[in-house]
Amino acid sequence: METTSFGRAIRPLWPLDEDVVFLNHGSYGAAPRAVLVAQQHWRDRLEANPVNFMKRVLPEALEQAKARLAAFLAASPSDLAFVDNATSGVNAVLRSLDFRPGDEILINSHTYNAVRQTVRHVAARTGAVPVEADIPFPLSGPQPILEAISARLGARTRLVILDHITSPTATIMPLAPLIDAAKAAGAAVLVDGAHAPGMLPLDLPAIGADYYTGNCHKWLCAPKGCAFLWVDPARQAGIHSLTISHYYEKGFGAEFAWTGTRDPSAWLAVTAALDFLDELGGLEAVTAYTHRLAHEAAAMLAAAWGTEVGGPPDMRGSMASIRLPDRYADPSLTAQMVMDRLWSEHRIEIPILRFAGQPWARISAAPYSEMAEYAMLNQAIGEG
Ligand SMILES: Cc1ncc(COP(=O)(O)O)c(C=O)c1O
Repeated sequence: METTSFGRAIRPLWPLDEDVVFLNHGSYGAAPRAVLVAQQHWRDRLEANPVNFMKRVLPEALEQAKARLAAFLAASPSDLAFVDNATSGVNAVLRSLDFRPGDEILINSHTYNAVRQTVRHVAARTGAVPVEADIPFPLSGPQPILEAISARLGARTRLVILDHITSPTATIMPLAPLIDAAKAAGAAVLVDGAHAPGMLPLDLPAIGADYYTGNCHKWLCAPKGCAFLWVDPARQAGIHSLTISHYYEKGFGAEFAWTGTRDPSAWLAVTAALDFLDELGGLEAVTAYTHRLAHEAAAMLAAAWGTEVGGPPDMRGSMASIRLPDRYADPSLTAQMVMDRLWSEHRIEIPILRFAGQPWARISAAPYSEMAEYAMLNQAIGEG
């Protein structure tokens, strides 16, 4: 397959329903047909002789898949483990660390809610204290983020959890100064990069975090259940897989590679997802298209609705949050009601959420997306 274009012309490469205006790649990604075919090949090989596959094929195949992913992330394969999703990656770290009563775990108001719940759970069991920095929104630059987080860092801060790209507000966080500030305060840093692989170029060691988890099933278009956890070599000894199995304390790589019998085809098909990205022209070409499209669509919608985009262009990638027209601020009109109407009347798939008291639409721009679809969203919101 040689692809030279993006947008509607390549959408048949995905099995997406034809009649759906799919503006929510961000929530669960969407896997192309070729990647699903590759995944099925792995499943077929497994079921042809499950014992042979698990014992003799899988260990080497997993190492190869990991090596390919590691190269894409500029990481050493030995510092990388496959996990099922970013939620599992965050859980593995949080539930491995031995928090003491009074240790603070710093999150913020843009933190993904599943992560917030995990912090609550761990805090309740250990006596650690969840601290939540309040980051305003909309943002005109990185400064309010740095101020809000720095103000909550202290001698008791043990771990800072930072999203690379926030879920409710589609904001690329200024990781470098935030990590510097956390380190200066003596805290470790866990980056939740659920949206970053495939949306931003990544050099994991250069980021300077202690722990970094990311999804391959979102913007890398891998099959669902393909994600990774990267851990700084100095921190690996204390980090355990969520499921303890045969290889307990046999090393970071071994422990995460076998967590009991499971279908490993999503992990193995990451190679096909990376091939697919190459066939689209590579990360730079794909993100040049998706970032520009998200930017232009956001500007068009904000102008049409007389509102604003939630952050400056250099703090956005392939997603953007746009405030809905003023009449949607009526609290009796819930985000769910707006989403339900867009879906039932227009077949538009888009997340709408209330954040900082205002209703926002979070658009995604994928390689198969094109401007005409955001125009449909504009029209549908205009009719409401
Ligand atoms: C910032 C962030 N963290 C974690 C997740 C969870 O991803 P998953 O459901 O793949 O674990 C998401 C999903 O959208 C997210 O946006």
